Amino acid sequence: MAVSRKIKESMEQGSMIRRMFEQGAALRLERGGENVFDLSLGNPVVEPPAAFFAELRRLADSPEPGMHRYMPNAGYVETRAAVAAQLAEETGLAFTHDEVVMTVGAGGALNVVLKTLLDPGDEVVVFAPYFVEYLFYADNHGGSCRASINGSTKVVLINSPNNPTGVVYDAGLLARLGEIIQTKERQLGTEIFLLSDEPYRRVLFDGLEYPHVFHHHRRSIVATSHSKDLALPGERIGYIAVHPDYGDKGELMDGLIFCNRTLGFVNAPALMQRIVARLQSETVDVGEYQAKRDFLYGQLRDMRYDVVKPQGAFYMFPRSPIDDDARFVDELMEYGVLVVPGGGFGVPGHFRISYCVEDKTLAGALPGFQAAIERYA
Ligand SMILES: Cc1ncc(COP(=O)(O)O)c(C=O)c1O
Repeated sequence: MAVSRKIKESMEQGSMIRRMFEQGAALRLERGGENVFDLSLGNPVVEPPAAFFAELRRLADSPEPGMHRYMPNAGYVETRAAVAAQLAEETGLAFTHDEVVMTVGAGGALNVVLKTLLDPGDEVVVFAPYFVEYLFYADNHGGSCRASINGSTKVVLINSPNNPTGVVYDAGLLARLGEIIQTKERQLGTEIFLLSDEPYRRVLFDGLEYPHVFHHHRRSIVATSHSKDLALPGERIGYIAVHPDYGDKGELMDGLIFCNRTLGFVNAPALMQRIVARLQSETVDVGEYQAKRDFLYGQLRDMRYDVVKPQGAFYMFPRSPIDDDARFVDELMEYGVLVVPGGGFGVPGHFRISYCVEDKTLAGALPGFQAAIERYA
């Protein structure tokens, strides 16, 4: 047996996206690609901004000596300073490069933070619905996920705009969360970190301003990437930012940099670091995602789906008309529509739609959504 028992179990637990992928491939063979409407993956449909390609060309045309070599494990100072300047502008806090570590995407950032903070048996509080990888990331570092704070809690992990709901946590909610964490810290005599997973921070609709966690807890850490805001998920470029006023910042930063190295990431991709240093104020055309949200949300409401209007990201999480979300997802598949059951996000009875797809895919899925809900009208 090549694969460990533990990983086999995890693979079964986390198999829903793979299952959708395999069933989608079979469906395409059977019906032809044009009759399958795949709304199961969070892969941005838009291209990176023009400035990305301009920077790429500039670097290729005038390479600097040593630009592909190893660097300090935290990343280039110039890139970290550019990220810090952007964060300082957005938050009004005095960020410098000393509070930033460049990482291999948000997934890499989250693993580095959890590796740095968790002792065996420590717990991470997550709120359902959650990104399923959190369970595996916590386990990677000897921790586990829970729904409430206790004496073993080291981290409260939030994600806004949220995958799978598209909900943005407002400042009032974050303030309340900060108060609860600080009250619990006093009661339990522990330190609890607020870890904010923000790869969709700039994918916001209706002119909404992003409410930053830094204003609500000093022990707050952001893990994010440019996978979605610059449409670069394959390039694996992200960062960690630590609250500039956190007391033990020096030790924490040393730990993060050590773990970035020893998890085997070593450092974030060099070329991408040079490029994103110049793109901190750039974002993909969010209007395209907003138009898709407006279209799909309006159509689903007309069909009488019960769904919260997303404020950001590019997902929707409607209630399934029957409790058995896996069965409803199978029924949608009969109409060629691929979505993900809510059970995998910790909230059965719902399903996730990823609407970062071509308009024709969204439009093509509508008859399937209509026919599936009519079975239960
Ligand atoms: C909520 C959430 N966190 C983290 C990630 C991982 O992002 P990255 O591709 O930057 O590792 C994703 C990717 O879809 C996500 O949806």
